[in-house]
Amino acid sequence: MVMLSKQVKDSHPDLTYNLTHSYITNEGIEVKEQRQQVIHMTTGSSALDKILGGGIETRSITELFGEFRTGKTQLAHTLCVTSQMSFANNGGQGKVIYLDTEGNFRPERIEMIAERFGLDPEQTLDNVIICRVFSHEEQMDVVKPIAALLADTDQGPFRILIIDSIIALFRVEFSGRGELSERQQKLGQHLSALVRIAEEFNIAVVVINQCMADPGAMSMFGPVIKPVGGHVLAHASTTRVMLKKGKAEQRIAKIFDSPLMPEEEATFAITNGGIADV
Ligand code: GTP
Ligand code: MG
Repeated sequence: MVMLSKQVKDSHPDLTYNLTHSYITNEGIEVKEQRQQVIHMTTGSSALDKILGGGIETRSITELFGEFRTGKTQLAHTLCVTSQMSFANNGGQGKVIYLDTEGNFRPERIEMIAERFGLDPEQTLDNVIICRVFSHEEQMDVVKPIAALLADTDQGPFRILIIDSIIALFRVEFSGRGELSERQQKLGQHLSALVRIAEEFNIAVVVINQCMADPGAMSMFGPVIKPVGGHVLAHASTTRVMLKKGKAEQRIAKIFDSPLMPEEEATFAITNGGIADV
């Protein structure tokens, strides 16, 4: 586990990466080639991997949302380990950046999960770069040094960027009446920078989101929940996964609103070794 500021300073003291350029691609063949570079990484549960079409994929944003204790952070910790495993074991053979906005990162969990998969716990933890941020400004500003790190060929390859959580700081800091449109505008800027680095560096971006009761919907099991963040988040996320509680350590994941995948469900378990099949 290394703090981002140290990592960037150690490698290139004044490396800044310009995120402002754009590409124009109108050749379908080029897009097809880019799709072929996509890497799928296991979640630790083959049932969950299946409904995701083979696991968490690079080049796009995967959103995890659900109520408290549904396993969002545990899945994020599991991905910190599985993304480092070999391709042969459905890993990504890469390093991890964990953008922690709530102080929920637990190194001891990474070590436990690494042991389950037969990886060296210390080495595994060493390949996770932690960025702890305390305000939405810091969260937005840290994307540039992250991009610098991703662009640094001496450091990589990185395979996943996890943000736990994408919206909590924005919701706290723009809680006043009349601040919603400014919040959404800032969040939109942040997400478009994340979409860009996902594509440019062929990494998976996993964002953890909060949820709320949908006032327009009720089911026989009580209120229906939906992700917060509105259209801005819906637009940026390629795959949206809703997590729900099941019996004891069991959890249910459901594909929500996917253009590609059917709205299937999978049951998984939270174990000492991270996310696993039941
Ligand atoms: P919020 O951040 O509160 O919204 O929740 P979350 O969805 O991120 O929940 P989280 O991923 O933290 O999951 C919490 C669940 O994981 C609890 O039911 C814990 O009991 C379980 N859990 C956490 N650590 C361990 C562990 O070391 N072993 C096992 N078996 N379960 C654990
Ligand atoms: Mg959490």
